[in-house]
Amino acid sequence: MSRKLVYTGKAKDIYTTSEDENLIISVYKDQATMLNGARKETIEGKGILNNQISSLIFEKLNVAGVATHFIKQLSETEQLNKKVEIIPLEVVLRNYTAGSFSKRFAVEEGLKLETPILEFYYKNDDLNDPFINDEHVKFLDIATDEEIAYIKNETRRINGFLSDWFSQIGLKLIDYKLEFGKDKDGNIILADEFSPDNCRLWDAEGRHMDKDVFRRDLGSLTDVYQVVLEKLQGLEK
Ligand code: TMP
Repeated sequence: MSRKLVYTGKAKDIYTTSEDENLIISVYKDQATMLNGARKETIEGKGILNNQISSLIFEKLNVAGVATHFIKQLSETEQLNKKVEIIPLEVVLRNYTAGSFSKRFAVEEGLKLETPILEFYYKNDDLNDPFINDEHVKFLDIATDEEIAYIKNETRRINGFLSDWFSQIGLKLIDYKLEFGKDKDGNIILADEFSPDNCRLWDAEGRHMDKDVFRRDLGSLTDVYQVVLEKLQGLEK
C-alpha cells in the first residue's frame, strides 16, 4: 500500500493511501507543543501512548453509537481513519474550571460546573485560535444553525460517556477539546484524537494526569500517560 504525506500537524502526520481515497492513515508523533507551537519538545514514547489511548477511546465511542472517523489501529503509532474535511472549530467542553477558563474569569481551578460549559474556538493558527460564539461561527461560514446544534448535542452526549468511563477508573474529566469533520457524504463525524494531549484528567489526589505535566513542568509526561493507558485497559475487561 503506497502512501502520500498530505498534512503534517503538531502531534500527527496524515497520509492518504493508494487503496481507498476515502481513507487516511494518522501517524502519532513524539512531539509535544504548547503556546501554538512556540514551545516544542520531542518526548520519546508519547506517540505510541496517545495512539493507543485514542484508539481505545474511539473504539468505545463507536460501540456506544457515536459516529467517528476511527476504523482501526494499524500499528503502535498508526491508525486508519475515514477521510474528513475538518470543520475549523475547537469544541471545548468543561466539567470543572481550569486552564484558560480560570484565567479568563479569575476563578480557581477545580470548581464543578453544574451545567458543563461548551465553548468554541476558531481553529486558525495565524489568529491564535480565538474564542468565538455561535454567531461568529455563522458569520465565518464555519457551520449552519443545524450543524452547530448537532455538534453541541453530540459533544454533550459524548461527555456523558467519557465522564462515566473516566470516573470508573478514578479520574475526573476536567475538560477537553474535540474536533469534528465532514465525511464524503457530508455527514458530521467526530475526528482528530482523544488523548491526555487534549483533555485534563485529575486523579483522586488532584494530580494532573495530562499534558499540564508538560505545560507546567510537573515531571515525566510519558509516566503519567502510561498510567492513564493502563487504567483504561483495565476498564475494557
Ligand atoms: P484551555 O483551558 O487551555 O482553554 O484548554 C481547554 C481544554 O482544551 C484542555 O483540555 C486542553 C484542550 N486544548 C487542546 O486540546 N488544544 C488547544 O489548542 C487548546 C487551547 C486546548
